[in-house]
Amino acid sequence: MSMLDGRVVIVTGGGRGLGRAHCLELAAHGATVVVNDLPGEDAEPAKEVVAEIEALGGTAVADPTSVSDFDGVAGMIERTVSQFGRLDGVVNNAGILRDKMLTSMTEQDFDAVIAVHLKGGFNLTHHASLHWRALGKAGKPVAGRIVNTTSGAGLWGNLGQLNYSTAKAGLVAMTTVTAMEMGRYGVTANIVSPIARTRMTADLAWDDTAVEGFDRLDPANTSPAVAWLVSEESGWLTGAVLRVDGDTIMRVNGFEMDQNVRYRTKADHKLDATKLDVGMRKAFGVLPGGIPSSS
Ligand SMILES: NC(=O)c1ccc[n+]([C@@H]2O[C@H](COP(=O)([O-])OP(=O)(O)OC[C@H]3O[C@@H](n4cnc5c(N)ncnc54)[C@H](O)[C@@H]3O)[C@@H](O)[C@H]2O)c1
Repeated sequence: MSMLDGRVVIVTGGGRGLGRAHCLELAAHGATVVVNDLPGEDAEPAKEVVAEIEALGGTAVADPTSVSDFDGVAGMIERTVSQFGRLDGVVNNAGILRDKMLTSMTEQDFDAVIAVHLKGGFNLTHHASLHWRALGKAGKPVAGRIVNTTSGAGLWGNLGQLNYSTAKAGLVAMTTVTAMEMGRYGVTANIVSPIARTRMTADLAWDDTAVEGFDRLDPANTSPAVAWLVSEESGWLTGAVLRVDGDTIMRVNGFEMDQNVRYRTKADHKLDATKLDVGMRKAFGVLPGGIPSSS
């Protein structure tokens, strides 16, 4: 019995790069995979991945829906459930870049990236969650799994990627709220932050030296984490941000209030704008604070 036997999973952007690697890994563990990707200019990448999976004895279908098409994504879920009788996981992986510095970025550059990453993530998460909620309300068992994809650019920011960083940070918030709202229906939501050599990162000057045969930038390195996250086993983990770097998975903590950098006015009084400059300088350590206060 393989870890994902009997489970049906949709992977968006599954025709290339990380998505392709996820599809192959999921199929290797027994999942039926819906390989979603745009038809593309050079043949149909999703169909090629389906052929690879079938050649290895697995089950997969290609789906050409654009993730940014709200109704189209609903149709993809309906087709999946009617063809395979179930849906167990969705992997929001599809992505594009339109990198420019803020002052050169056009409205189209911004909208295009938000439409694929952020709205695309919402579309699939929303329609899959509707499906799982209906099952839960009908008293049927649900182990729904949502895996989103963020980036170092979303977690920490990156020059020239305002649109992308904004979308990828938004997906972290989407994961948090989805985890909060869908837990009661047996659905988890987690998000991975991969690092991989793909078409998307082809222009980056990374050190790609493989260490003793291990290729840190192989897109397939993130796929075991994705396979586990869509399995029933991982049901105890939700709302997590996981950085996957080569052979290592690390939890990334979200925003935290820093109790060491704080300014408080007189207790239970409104802040006074005219006092903030000195107060904030002290809080940030730009001015000496003097004797530590207990309040
Ligand atoms: N490569 C990295 O190091 C890295 C790092 C952090 C995050 N990511 C994220 O991982 C994901 C995969 O990136 P990749 O590096 O494999 O890139 P990639 O370009 O190789 O693959 C992205 C795939 O998404 C598909 N896609 C684009 N728009 C789509 C749409 N509207 N509907 C359906 N499919 C669509 C593309 O056709 C392509 O096959 C992206 O979300 C990316 O932001 C990648």
